[in-house]
Amino acid sequence: MTDWLKNSVFYQIYPQSFYDTNSDGIGDLLGITLKLDYIKDLGCNAIWINPIYDSPFLDAGYDVRDYKKIAPRYGTMDDFEHLLSEAHKRDMKILMDLVPGHTSDTHEWFQAAKNAYPTEFDDRYIFTDCVWEAPTDYRLMCGICERDGNYLVNYFSSQPALNYGFYKVTHPAWQKSSDSPEAWATVDALKDIMRFWLDKGIDGFRVDMADSLVKNDDEKIATAKIWRNMREMLDRDYPNAVMISEWSNPQRAIVNAGFHGDFYLDHHGNGYNSLFRKKIGDDNQSFFADHSHGDIEEFLADYFLGYNCSKDHGYICFITNNHDMPRAPFYMSDWMIRLSHAFMMTMPGVPFIYYGDEIGMRYRTDLISKEGGFSRTGSRTPMQWNSEKNAGFSDSDEDMLYLPIDRSEDAPTVEKQQGDPDSIYENLKALIALRKANPSLSNDSEIEVVYGKSHEFPFVYRRGEFTAFFNPSDNDAQVDYDMSGAENVYTLGGYESGDGFVKILPRSFLLIRQ
Ligand code: GLC
Ligand code: CA
Repeated sequence: MTDWLKNSVFYQIYPQSFYDTNSDGIGDLLGITLKLDYIKDLGCNAIWINPIYDSPFLDAGYDVRDYKKIAPRYGTMDDFEHLLSEAHKRDMKILMDLVPGHTSDTHEWFQAAKNAYPTEFDDRYIFTDCVWEAPTDYRLMCGICERDGNYLVNYFSSQPALNYGFYKVTHPAWQKSSDSPEAWATVDALKDIMRFWLDKGIDGFRVDMADSLVKNDDEKIATAKIWRNMREMLDRDYPNAVMISEWSNPQRAIVNAGFHGDFYLDHHGNGYNSLFRKKIGDDNQSFFADHSHGDIEEFLADYFLGYNCSKDHGYICFITNNHDMPRAPFYMSDWMIRLSHAFMMTMPGVPFIYYGDEIGMRYRTDLISKEGGFSRTGSRTPMQWNSEKNAGFSDSDEDMLYLPIDRSEDAPTVEKQQGDPDSIYENLKALIALRKANPSLSNDSEIEVVYGKSHEFPFVYRRGEFTAFFNPSDNDAQVDYDMSGAENVYTLGGYESGDGFVKILPRSFLLIRQ
């Protein structure tokens, strides 16, 4: 049973930047094992680790060379098994990152497929039938291999798309249908990889670009069919395991495709963006922004579309951030981050905390691209543990570090924040504890909006016996509300209440139980 998911709080680990135990400047698996108690103490009971497979690292590991081998820079299979058993001893779960849509062009399947002579992997990727065939509506790499054809890539040029077929076949000479045996042979190959890790006892997968499998599949009908098939395998053979999708479309991901959870990502114009990342030029129009003038209705309209259809099937996963987006301090003050954490820890779904967000680690705009990071590089810097050498991340020489440490005087560290009741860390820890102690705050109760009007404050919602009030704006925000019998459970900032009303002070959060 995947019941464990319901009250879980995840911690996302970018392994190369978390904790280095052999002084080569790169985080490793033993480093994660040694920090399990730290993660558990924060209140998280589950971990998603970004890809740790063998890779040339042209996309930081999302370019897999061998799905069944641990990248040597992270350690060995023994190190992984040790991590898994130490996590399970602590009743913690581990999700690996599944990259189903593409491999590295150094993967042995591709090395075989790109050759001029026939091999058993010729249909594992999508090649046109001749080198002169290069329709411009596809992202094709042309003329760089000996095989008489061009191949489709998904993301970087080094990431050839795996062949799950085409839902609408427009070029029958080289496109296989998504129902073809060739397409389903790829599905079988992916299942084999999933089984390999599930048989080791992992608790499931975060699935990279889950919607990318079948081509010419605008409605994602054939892509959903494949994931349904995977879900059946899980339900039958690995009933405790879960799949969480990088998709950001609960209808398609959770309802149609059968994912247990789907990330709410920062996509232009969606509810997540409107809450936390909506910056137009210098004007921050997010709801959770300093001097907020955001519009909560933008969020509500988008969120409830997804929530209402998917709530009986799986969870929308709020994220503090991830390895693909600028970290929160790029958009808001530490105080506003605390308010936003209060929101995420009192909403339905399964929250994910990106390493370092528990101390408000900053987004670096001064770094050049590392391993395909581009602008994402600034969110991937080493974890800041303490005031020791390299912020306690690594004993290596400075020039060997995976990425530079934030050396600013006021750079946050775990050491500085632990025990400080006014820190982002202690605030988040208390909120996680509250969520975990009260099933109504995780997923045992639905959400009911009490007050949520366009460009007005506060925003108020009920979760079972709890009511949460948010006023990120600079002005008092009053709402009609009967506080009789209310017990104050958590406050940031302040409030006043009287006969039939509550006034939430500027930049404040209030949680009551009634
Ligand atoms: C996902 C990953 C991202 C990666 C891309 C290609 O979006 O989160 O980091 O670059 O897929 O695999
Ligand atoms: Ca290391």
